[in-house]
Amino acid sequence: MKQYIFPQAAGIETLELRDVPMPKPARGQILVKMRAASLNYRDLNVAAGRAARGTLPPNLVPLSDGAGEVVELGQDVTRVAIGDRVAGLFMQNWLGGDMEPYHVDSSRGGSIGGVLAEYVLFDQDGVVHLPEHLSFEEGATLPCAGLTAWNALYAGKSLRSGETVLILGTGGVSIFALQFAHAAGARVIGTSSSDEKLARVKALGASDGVNYRQHPEWQEQVLALTNGRGVDHVVEVGGAGTLGRSIEAARIGGQVHLIGVLTGGEIDPTPILRRNTVLRGIYVGSRQMFQAMNAAVLLHGIRPVIDRVFDFADARAAYHHLKGQTHVGKVVIHIA
Ligand SMILES: NC(=O)c1ccc[n+]([C@@H]2O[C@H](COP(=O)([O-])OP(=O)(O)OC[C@H]3O[C@@H](n4cnc5c(N)ncnc54)[C@H](OP(=O)(O)O)[C@@H]3O)[C@@H](O)[C@H]2O)c1
Repeated sequence: MKQYIFPQAAGIETLELRDVPMPKPARGQILVKMRAASLNYRDLNVAAGRAARGTLPPNLVPLSDGAGEVVELGQDVTRVAIGDRVAGLFMQNWLGGDMEPYHVDSSRGGSIGGVLAEYVLFDQDGVVHLPEHLSFEEGATLPCAGLTAWNALYAGKSLRSGETVLILGTGGVSIFALQFAHAAGARVIGTSSSDEKLARVKALGASDGVNYRQHPEWQEQVLALTNGRGVDHVVEVGGAGTLGRSIEAARIGGQVHLIGVLTGGEIDPTPILRRNTVLRGIYVGSRQMFQAMNAAVLLHGIRPVIDRVFDFADARAAYHHLKGQTHVGKVVIHIA
């Protein structure tokens, strides 16, 4: 069977396809025939050789997010059956409760091997069943981007109908947040570098869009759109370069969910206390959260927004497309 590896990640061009023997599930494991995988911003860092912690293992199979069909069971597997349609967990052993350091060491496509392969072994506990209405391509977008947005809006002080959510940019996490908030009856305000992308965001249910290139002080536009009050939640994917404005755009006592690191800069902590801001760090999520998200995805008939699907043979092109940042939503690789 074929799998992609980074022998020693040093750029997208160092991604290699290789033939390896078919893996055999050990006791408690399952073999999944992968049908689709999706890319996250983090995968660009991995491709560049940057690890979240420590160093990347050599010969790393990349990508955390994928979906497929269970084709073989190891001994004593009872949680899934042959033919089940499943998606893998980002952190293989964070099943529920609070996150522990050892959960992070089980992150697919970073700490341990990922899913950009024709077949992948999982522990029977390391997958969730796909919502029935989703294709494998759609299901492959859920494990990181979907779950991160869900964790932000629902695993802390939960989003409520009638509240306002600010999303930054139109990437994978932000578009999921838009869809979850819209389904909950919340108002969504979007920001983007591009008016075309803002038109997409509005078509997906956002009430307003602010172009942050045309309005570098975009928090003022957000405040004006909320009659000076500010939003209840910010899905903060920008990091240090946007956090100060996100705090100003949030209402007093509002929640800023700190997710991304797209920009650099320095943060003045004073407004956080003056505005009673609740600043909450988010790191993907647990299986328990994933199952709660899938129930909502099924109930509301939510379909993840896929920007483009690439063939397995064109995996490098998928990375370049994500890097170009022209996408809205998710970039997916179809695995035949
Ligand atoms: N903590 C976690 O668990 C977790 C999980 C997933 C992702 N993340 C992080 O979250 C961030 C987004 O990830 P992703 O996979 O959703 O990325 P993505 O799909 O690559 O989307 C990135 C988008 O962000 C927007 N953007 C870029 N610079 C911006 C800025 N200065 N202000 C506002 N928007 C900006 C752009 O959209 P526009 O052109 O529309 O502006 C861009 O297309 C990354 O830093 C990633 O590492 C963290």
